[in-house]
Amino acid sequence: MNFLHYQQDKLFVHQQSIADLAKRYGTPLYVYSENYIKKQWTEFNDALKGRKHLICYAIKANSNLAILSTLAQLGSGFDIVSQGELERVLKAGADPKKVVFSGVAKSVSEIERALEVGIKCFNVESEAELLRIQDVAKRLNKIAPISLRINPDVDAKTHPYISTGLRENKFGISYQLARQVYQRATTLSHIAIMGIDCHIGSQLTELSPFLDAADRILALVDELKSDGIIIKHIDFGGGLGVCYDDEVPPTSADLVAALLKKLDNYQDIEILFEPGRSIVANAGLLVTKVEYIKHQDDNHFAIVDAGMNDLIRPALYEAWMRIIPETQPSADAPNYAYNVVGPICESSDFLGKGRQLAVQQDDLLVVCSAGAYGFSMASNYNSHPRPAEVMVDDTDHRLIRQRESFDMLWQGEIV
Ligand code: LLP
Repeated sequence: MNFLHYQQDKLFVHQQSIADLAKRYGTPLYVYSENYIKKQWTEFNDALKGRKHLICYAIKANSNLAILSTLAQLGSGFDIVSQGELERVLKAGADPKKVVFSGVAKSVSEIERALEVGIKCFNVESEAELLRIQDVAKRLNKIAPISLRINPDVDAKTHPYISTGLRENKFGISYQLARQVYQRATTLSHIAIMGIDCHIGSQLTELSPFLDAADRILALVDELKSDGIIIKHIDFGGGLGVCYDDEVPPTSADLVAALLKKLDNYQDIEILFEPGRSIVANAGLLVTKVEYIKHQDDNHFAIVDAGMNDLIRPALYEAWMRIIPETQPSADAPNYAYNVVGPICESSDFLGKGRQLAVQQDDLLVVCSAGAYGFSMASNYNSHPRPAEVMVDDTDHRLIRQRESFDMLWQGEIV
């Protein structure tokens, strides 16, 4: 995150001071580095040079249209999980032929819309879904390109809420049933088998689960070949972790290099990935203002204007996210181990606990690595309008989502 740096004790994103951005756009405020997003995507993409491939950014991580449009211009594909996400990528100018559609509960109308615009592939999560896609495609007289999302039953060694590739998870088709469901697919008139797919979890900081999953998937590709089913693409999903604290996750180049070693004998197969977090997490910050300081008993609270409604990761997964001051304090400023808490009426409403900080009322704090699953999981709980979002590049900054107004809070409600 070298775009984030102190200049004479003041925090800057590229050439923009955080204090100026906060003054101009208010707080809480999401701030993103466009260069960092481009760099992360380009590094992933470049690692696959020489192979037929497509990086499909998982838009659930951050679905702001400006980010989607930037990635679309780089040539990115997109991984979507709802019609809302499909409409977003289309609005951002993405090529539907570069869109893969994941998700366990695709509705009839979502399938219709995806067929109508001509997406690259449905990542099918159950036999029932396969049959539904066949029905809809037949009715619309279209051929539906599909891959089956296989649950490889490997331990992603991540938080249980973001682990998806274990047998007990709701995701994908079990490894044992996979061949049988592929056979079924061959009998369906409006289904074209394109690929195979897996996604085992998120914030993976080791290579081994990816490699274990790849071994299982490749074994299946071989078995399918002997059944006469030719796989044209393998989608390894997303999941690559990032550094929030002191984790040292593999880079995208490490991941790709390790997987490519296994793929020598599969040169004709196109390789897909669905990274979300690794593209945007460390591109983003949440800027928040200290409303009050409260010292009581042994507890020190920095009560800030951003809460779990703006950034739910700490509350939901006990995720640790770095919190730094906008102004570096003088060496003799009194500091305490603060619980940095928000305005929401819930005890789970915290951004960080026990953080050694020297802060005062009206100071600004910055939550780092907030670009993924930050704004995209934000809500209006306690009737707080959602924050503004700002994009910063080398020389400039621009608003990419206005702060919600109070009117927007009750839009659509009927008295
Ligand atoms: N593909 C599929 C099918 C997924 O379910 C996900 C994430 C991704 C790709 C992207 O994974 P990534 O590269 O971002 O790890 N809200 C949680 C993370 C939930 C991830 C859900 N699926 C968090 O804040 O940690």
